[in-house]
Amino acid sequence: MTPIVPARRTGKRIGSADLLIKDEGLNPTGSFKARGLSCAVSMCVELGIRKVAIPSAGNAASALAAYAAAAGIEAHIFMPQDVPQANFIECKSYGAHVTLVDGLISDCGLIVAGKKDKEGWFDISTLKEPYRIEGKKTMGYEVAEQLGWELPDAIFYPTGGGVGMIGMWKAFAEMEALGWIGSKRPKMIAVQAEGCQPVVRAWEQGASRSQFWEGASTVAAGLRVPKPLGDFLVLNAVRESGGTAIAVRDEDLIDAGIRLASDDGIFAAPEGAACIVAAERLLREGFLGKDDKIVIYNTGSGLKYLEAYSTRFPRSAPGETDKLGGLITPR
Ligand SMILES: Cc1ncc(COP(=O)(O)O)c(C=O)c1O
Repeated sequence: MTPIVPARRTGKRIGSADLLIKDEGLNPTGSFKARGLSCAVSMCVELGIRKVAIPSAGNAASALAAYAAAAGIEAHIFMPQDVPQANFIECKSYGAHVTLVDGLISDCGLIVAGKKDKEGWFDISTLKEPYRIEGKKTMGYEVAEQLGWELPDAIFYPTGGGVGMIGMWKAFAEMEALGWIGSKRPKMIAVQAEGCQPVVRAWEQGASRSQFWEGASTVAAGLRVPKPLGDFLVLNAVRESGGTAIAVRDEDLIDAGIRLASDDGIFAAPEGAACIVAAERLLREGFLGKDDKIVIYNTGSGLKYLEAYSTRFPRSAPGETDKLGGLITPR
């Protein structure tokens, strides 16, 4: 269970009287990806699978590496070579087999698909096995429970593959069938980065599927998914809920992350910070009202994105290697 924290000063600044942040940065390995992968790895153990492979934008790899280490199974990880350093160091520390790829998550996916049969790997790619989405449903259960079994007016979700949104939408339908919640649904708002916005483009064009986004680039690494596999499910949730899809500039989302930290004490991942910019815009345009209860999913901790945030706080300092080197060979 991650906390829902009122962001009072940020809310006041952007014109919301009821702005809440669901802080997924407090999950194991610092992102919501722990939810899907704890479930998927547990099922691998249950089903006797000993070797798994994943293409990842970064945080899914970290979560897989941790749970695979805990479960004593092999993790083979393929991620873009410019992935945040935290993800690389985590995966290596957890003992995963890491390959950095000169390309995007889509290229990593092709490598896994091409090698898995020969290597005997189970492909744990999102939406290619059934359990990661089941784990992500817990984001939907928790928001319902934490808000007294009445869903908010709007949910902002930073959308890469969109699986968190798809999982929540499934959870809401199932909870209604169980009689736990009523028929009220939040407006589901998919937030992307301007440098990779296939879902936003499809939404604007009224299409049911997205087109591959060429030259995808953003500091919000988790949003760098040029062609989400479950795009039609995301677009469906946005449409059925009366929501929308919106893209944000990298400069703005980094500014918003720093502002959220200094105003309300929450150091968000750039992906989560993007939702603040989107909320501000939708409040200003009147798409949302001042008194609407808004929940923003901060999907990860800002601590995993020090390279991105350090662009705003440059400094030079002696490296840790000096200290460690000093320990080994005292000068
Ligand atoms: C911090 C963060 N936020 C959001 C996302 C996008 O997640 P989803 O695939 O559920 O859209 C990712 C994916 O890597 C992520 O790491």
